[in-house]
Amino acid sequence: MQVFVDTAEIEEVKKAKLIGLADGVTTNPTLIHKSGRDFKKSIIEIANLIEGPVFAETVSEDADGIVKEGRDMSKWAQNVVVKIPINRAGLEATRILETEGIRTALTLVFSAGQALLAAKAGASFICPFVGRLDDIGLQGLELVREIMDMYRNYDMETEVIVASLRTSNHIIESALIGADGVTVPYKLIESLARHPLTDSGIKTFLDDWKKVR
Ligand code: E4P
Repeated sequence: MQVFVDTAEIEEVKKAKLIGLADGVTTNPTLIHKSGRDFKKSIIEIANLIEGPVFAETVSEDADGIVKEGRDMSKWAQNVVVKIPINRAGLEATRILETEGIRTALTLVFSAGQALLAAKAGASFICPFVGRLDDIGLQGLELVREIMDMYRNYDMETEVIVASLRTSNHIIESALIGADGVTVPYKLIESLARHPLTDSGIKTFLDDWKKVR
């Protein structure tokens, strides 16, 4: 399973990479805003740091504008993937960009129907948002299960990178369902490594080691 980091902070990408957890990086306009850095410079810096895909999101609202942005972004680095909000314009733009050999990721996916259209448009990736569905009282992981079943039924090649993760359970369940990947906020990556029994076990071992000799 691929584990992407959901961040626009270079330092977080570097730290995730050190423990083998930067198979890719996803950004969005909110994360770019939070980082306080220039969009293009950040994407290029991240893309030079890792080998895997770096998702950079378009902000145009019509297909022509999205295609123009996507063509430009695709020149920033060979591993930049054009991330596009899914709607009619986004699907049209996806089809054009993918035909030109520019990889796309359709984002803000909240239904299996949208996932079907994304695959038919030829998107390389989709990002279903589990946390935001949970936030409104629905079961985000159920959506991932449906999409994976549907894609498997027809050998659809679009990769599913589960996004909007809030808990370590979201990560583990996505892996059990067989999603192609997850994109995880750095804080959540760190919390995955921790367990209270590991901490107390280390303490006991170190205390006992002091008593040796
Ligand atoms: C990643 O591609 C998404 O933009 C991100 O996971 C959204 O997460 P949020 O719902 O916590 O904003």
